[in-house]
Amino acid sequence: MPRFQRIVILTGAGLSAESGLGTFRDKDGLWTKYDLNEVATPEGFARGPDKVLAFYNMRKKVHADVAPNAAHRALARLEEAYPGKVLTITQNIDELHELAGSRNLIHMHGEIYKALCAHCGHRRPWREDFSTTRSCQGCNACGGLRPDVVWFGEMPYRMEEIYAALSRCDLFVSIGTSGTVYPAAGFVIDALQAGAHTVELNLEPSEGVTHFAEARHGKATEIVPAFVEELLGGGHSA
Ligand code: APR
Repeated sequence: MPRFQRIVILTGAGLSAESGLGTFRDKDGLWTKYDLNEVATPEGFARGPDKVLAFYNMRKKVHADVAPNAAHRALARLEEAYPGKVLTITQNIDELHELAGSRNLIHMHGEIYKALCAHCGHRRPWREDFSTTRSCQGCNACGGLRPDVVWFGEMPYRMEEIYAALSRCDLFVSIGTSGTVYPAAGFVIDALQAGAHTVELNLEPSEGVTHFAEARHGKATEIVPAFVEELLGGGHSA
């Protein structure tokens, strides 16, 4: 009988950092170089769509050259080999979890390789550059195609499923996130209320570290595979 029946894992930018994708709030993070109000809000898109699309096209180019790291692969192996349920909720818009083999996955902040029409809500895969000159296949309107990512002030995706899973989990693991952005930063509280054991795996203590029953600090490619080995080896004891 596995120690934990229903594991929920939350991941953030720190998980993909060693794959070559910058984080947001670390030294040299994206938000130290770009004004998030200009490039990651619906208001910024209304004011300057070309600027916003250029920002995501730049990120797409960086994403195109990266691959999953040992931490992504360890989480995919956990999902595949663990006898209990494993759900991964990611704040990341990259596709590294999928490329590593994770399947039971929720992109709560959307995906960079998808487009969303701001006029009609039509969604579709979109690997090429975004452009204000392209028209939506759903409504034929031009200029409304944006990355299918959740901007500040917008509601993250699949929140009902996420809260249902948190209310039933018995192990909650938060990996590579600073714990500064809600609602994700509050998930540890939901898990605690469900009676779950809570673990933080991060390079340094996050904003919410005091809420966690256990915290391990180090590089994701080192501490995540070790933690997964313990879970699969049945060795992890709360
Ligand atoms: N291994 C483990 N953790 C790391 C590593 C690493 N190699 N490198 C950085 N970290 C940690 C940092 O210590 C930091 O706590 O990852 C965290 C990254 O924090 P943020 O840059 O704030 O990223 P994240 O928490 O994912 O941001 C949340 O904010 O900008 C929005 O929508 C965006 O999804 C994002 C959300």
